[in-house]
Amino acid sequence: MKVLVTGASGFLGGRLCHALLRRGHSVRAFVRRTSDLSSLPTLSDGVPLELALGDVTDYPSLLAACSGCNVVFHAAAIVESWLPDLSKFISVNVGGLKNVLRAYKETDTIEKIIYTSSFFALGSTDGYTADETQMHSAKFFCSEYEKSKAVADKIALEAAKEGVPIVAVCPGIIYGPGKITAGNVVARLMVERFNGRMPGYIGDGKESFSFTYVEDVVNGHILALDKGQPGQRYLLTGENASFTQVFDIVATITNTKRPSLKIPLFVMVVYAWLLVLFSRITGQPPLISPPAVCVMRHQWAYSCEKAKRELGYKPRSLKEGLEEILPWLKKLGLIKY
Ligand SMILES: NC(=O)c1ccc[n+]([C@@H]2O[C@H](COP(=O)([O-])OP(=O)(O)OC[C@H]3O[C@@H](n4cnc5c(N)ncnc54)[C@H](OP(=O)(O)O)[C@@H]3O)[C@@H](O)[C@H]2O)c1
Repeated sequence: MKVLVTGASGFLGGRLCHALLRRGHSVRAFVRRTSDLSSLPTLSDGVPLELALGDVTDYPSLLAACSGCNVVFHAAAIVESWLPDLSKFISVNVGGLKNVLRAYKETDTIEKIIYTSSFFALGSTDGYTADETQMHSAKFFCSEYEKSKAVADKIALEAAKEGVPIVAVCPGIIYGPGKITAGNVVARLMVERFNGRMPGYIGDGKESFSFTYVEDVVNGHILALDKGQPGQRYLLTGENASFTQVFDIVATITNTKRPSLKIPLFVMVVYAWLLVLFSRITGQPPLISPPAVCVMRHQWAYSCEKAKRELGYKPRSLKEGLEEILPWLKKLGLIKY
């Protein structure tokens, strides 16, 4: 089977390409001219991996990449909480999906599209745990990223109603070994924490996120290819926990001291604005931005029972996942304990 992976140079996409190759698929990795390809397997004789250069906002390049493919995993997106040019979130995250759908109609080989949506597409869950039946209210968005994923998710579901064989998978916060991009937020926080740049717990401990290990998300994507029903969404989430719990589990695993103070959210907002000012000068996206602090004020807890039941998805616990990522970061010399 010939498989196109968009976002192949990213944290998730790179791991997905490795897994698809291990399963014997031929993989065409859709990457930009500027992409850092270190997350991808080395191109060598006998490895059924090829590169297709392009941009999801450049329709002809995407159409050419789709040609002859049976499956498209559409994982490309701008994954940041803030950017100086906010319009990019819609043009890439929504425009990119629209181009994939258009290419499907003009290519006669594509049998299935697996679209990487997000828990953000369902919206926050203050005080309860949501499942796939929740639609985003669209009344308020913490970030343009959240808005773009909610809009794109609705477009995917509408396309399925019109007969496009598209399955949406919605990961929680993805973490684990792999490229340390803005999307690998847990790895980035660990690097900050163990290098003394994060003196306390972030958040008030009331927030909730669904933490999902990267290899489980990769497996969930492949299970969605094998068993996912077009028009359905599957939450590929994991354990629901606060960042306070994450930091406590990390302290236990590494036998280090727990943080002794809590950084209140109002302090984080001020810090986030300063980082945004700094990033306007440097051009580098900030580690924490005001929209990210807004996200921290809410709960994002989900149930992945449907994916377990219908796909055979088996997420590991947060402790098991952290037990993998911490030694990996240590081995890379990024943290010490
Ligand atoms: N990380 C999470 O916690 C999380 C949670 C839920 C859902 N998701 C979803 O999972 C997917 C992958 O996220 P990730 O964490 O792996 O993000 P990532 O590491 O930032 O990877 C994003 C990928 O998209 C590519 N991309 C961005 N703009 C593009 C464009 N205009 N044309 C072509 N490719 C473009 C990037 O290419 P370059 O390498 O050239 O930049 C990169 O390969 C995204 O759809 C994201 O919304 C992520």
